[in-house]
Amino acid sequence: MAAVEDYGISSPLQLHMISAFLATEPPDVVISLARDCGGGSLDDRVQSCIWRQCICKADVKLQGPYLKRFLKKLILEIESDGQDVLDELYEHYAFYLTSLQDNDVAKGNSRILKSISFLFADESSGLVSCPKSRNLEVQLQCSLNMLEGDTGCSLWPSSIFLSEFILSFPEIFANKCCFEVGSGVGLVGVCIAHVKASKVILSDGDLSALANMKVNLELNHLSTNSYSIDDRVVRSMVQCVCLPWESATKDDLRRFAPDIILGADVIYDPSCLPHLVQVLATLLRPESSSHNEKRLNHSLQEKVASNGSPVPEILGHPSTNGPVAFLTSVIRNIETFNYFLALAKKADLIAMDITEKVEIFEFLPYLRSYPRSNVRIFKIYM
Ligand SMILES: C[S@@+](CC[C@H](N)C(=O)[O-])C[C@H]1O[C@@H](n2cnc3c(N)ncnc32)[C@H](O)[C@@H]1O
Repeated sequence: MAAVEDYGISSPLQLHMISAFLATEPPDVVISLARDCGGGSLDDRVQSCIWRQCICKADVKLQGPYLKRFLKKLILEIESDGQDVLDELYEHYAFYLTSLQDNDVAKGNSRILKSISFLFADESSGLVSCPKSRNLEVQLQCSLNMLEGDTGCSLWPSSIFLSEFILSFPEIFANKCCFEVGSGVGLVGVCIAHVKASKVILSDGDLSALANMKVNLELNHLSTNSYSIDDRVVRSMVQCVCLPWESATKDDLRRFAPDIILGADVIYDPSCLPHLVQVLATLLRPESSSHNEKRLNHSLQEKVASNGSPVPEILGHPSTNGPVAFLTSVIRNIETFNYFLALAKKADLIAMDITEKVEIFEFLPYLRSYPRSNVRIFKIYM
C-alpha cells in the first residue's frame, strides 16, 4: 500500500478521504471526509486533491456507475456552498452522463472494484501502533446485488471485522493451516495469507461466489493453481474448495486438518445451521494421529509468536492446543443465534464471546459506513 508521501498528499485526513473513495464508500461519506480536509469547505485545493488522487486513479470500467453518482453529489454540494466547480469535475461528469445510462446497473449483476486499505502505523500520521511493514491494500471485485452468489459476492461487515482481528493478532495465524467456511469474496483469505499462514483453505457452497473469489485472489497476486516439481503435483498455498455444508462428509473434512477455522457472517439461515455446526464439530475434533503429531509440534512453538510477543491466552485452546474456530457475526435475529448456540452445545462445542476480551485495532477509520460495533467475535472449541 502506498504511504501518505507516496500519494503526494500531506495529511492523514487526505489519506482517509482517498481510502474511502477507493473503497467506494457512499458519496456522502467521502464528501464529509473531503470537508474535514478543507476545514469544512470544498475549496479549490480540496477539489483538486479529489480530482488528482481519486477521480484520475479510478478504474473507469469497474467504477463508472460509482464515479457518476459521486460526481453528481459532489458538484451539487460545491454549487450549493456557492463555490466554483473545477472544470475537470464538470467535464468528467458530462462524460459519464453521455456514456453511462442508469439502467446499465439495473440490468443485473454489475460488479464494482473496492480497494480496502488497512492503515497501519506511520510516524507522520500516527494512525495506529503497529509496524508499517504490515500495510495491506486488498482489491475486491464485488457485486452491486447483495443477494448474488447466495450473498457470497458482496462484502459483509463481519469479514471486515474478522480481517481486523487477523491483522491485530498475526502471530496466531503465522505458520498455521487455516480453513474458512462461507468465504464469499475472499477478504479474510487475503488477510490470512498476508500474515503468513502455512496454508489457506477457502470454501463456499456457491459456485458463482467461488468463481468471484478466485478472481479476487488473482487480483491480490495469490494463485490457487497447483504446480508440479519432479513429477509431483504440489498444491498451492491457497486453495478454494466447493463445500456446501449439507453435503460435506466427515472424511472430506478430516483431510483438511486445520489448526484454525474461520467464518464471517455465516449464522443467519436456521435451515443451514445444523449442517454448519456439524462441519465445525468435525473440524474441531481432530482424530488422525498425523494431526496430533502436527499439533504437538505447534504447541512447542505456540508460547512465543514469530515476532517474539506472547500469544494472548484467551485466543488459544484452553487445555489441549487443539484447533479453535473464530466466527464473527452481526446478530440480526437473536432466536437464530440462540439456535446456533444450542446446536453447538449439543455437539459439545464451547462458544465464547471474546469481543470485549481482546483489543482489535481499528485499521479502517475512514470506512464510516461499516457498522463495526454491531459485529461480535466468538471463539469456538471442543
Ligand atoms: C453473508 S455471506 C458472508 C460472506 C463472507 N464471509 C463475508 O462475510 O463477506 C454468507 C456466505 O456463506 C455461504 N453459505 C451460505 N450457506 C451455505 C451453505 N449451506 N454451505 C456453504 N456455504 C454457504 C454463502 O455462499 C456466502 O458466501
